[in-house]
Amino acid sequence: MIIIKSDEEISKIGRASKIVAETLMRLGEVIVPGITTRDIEIRAEDIIKSNKATSAFKGYRGYPANLCISVNNEVIHGIPSRKRVLKDGDIVSLDVGVIYDGYIGDGAWTYPVGKVSRETMRLLAVTRESLYKGIEKARANNRVSDISHSIQTHVEGCGYSVVRAFVGHGVGRSLHEEPQIPNYGLPNKGPRLKKGMVLAIEPMVNAGGYEVAVLKDGWTAVTVDGSMSAHFEHTVVITEDEAGILTQLN
Ligand code: MF3
Ligand code: CO
Repeated sequence: MIIIKSDEEISKIGRASKIVAETLMRLGEVIVPGITTRDIEIRAEDIIKSNKATSAFKGYRGYPANLCISVNNEVIHGIPSRKRVLKDGDIVSLDVGVIYDGYIGDGAWTYPVGKVSRETMRLLAVTRESLYKGIEKARANNRVSDISHSIQTHVEGCGYSVVRAFVGHGVGRSLHEEPQIPNYGLPNKGPRLKKGMVLAIEPMVNAGGYEVAVLKDGWTAVTVDGSMSAHFEHTVVITEDEAGILTQLN
């Protein structure tokens, strides 16, 4: 069942989502060569705490950290570590979910570390664009796969591939609600979108093939061919016209 949120619930998800946006923005400012992913974890915990929120990820199915930090060929769900030092030319995906007043916002952004190759900068741009292509289709009376198809068309048209093993999702009191939102597929399939639905749309895009594998830590998903991977995510609310993007700072 897809939960339709009341205006009051939407404003609570909005507050959680603003904290996500602030966290992602402030973490983006500290990313420099030499920082460890554990440093970012500590900073994230501080920012979330100072906003009187808690991580929606820590403890979720046993996930051990406040956010996910995925470097280079890591797609999603990377675990912060004091041994993982970011270096010039890396890319790093930060995925942040917070709970505020019982409601969750979920967002992700991929940042370059120092100076990154032109080709990798293009991967980031195309993945970010594909998120906004998906959001354009997130409108009342469209169907879920209209979002999926729009993302896939943009990504594959640019020569990259869309990860299939992980999907976007509804979000609210729970981190993962219905519907699932694949980042690929034919248009005009799946549930019809309605005003008051809140969705986390999150394309994960690989420079090479779409296949992924999960490392022995049980969490970190990596590209099988070792290619770079990017991830951008917004929590959005379906309205009567354009979707409202909740995980952004105005
Ligand atoms: N944004 C991701 C998702 O929706 C992050 C979940 S990580 C977990 O799946 F640790 F909480 F599982
Ligand atoms: Co998500």
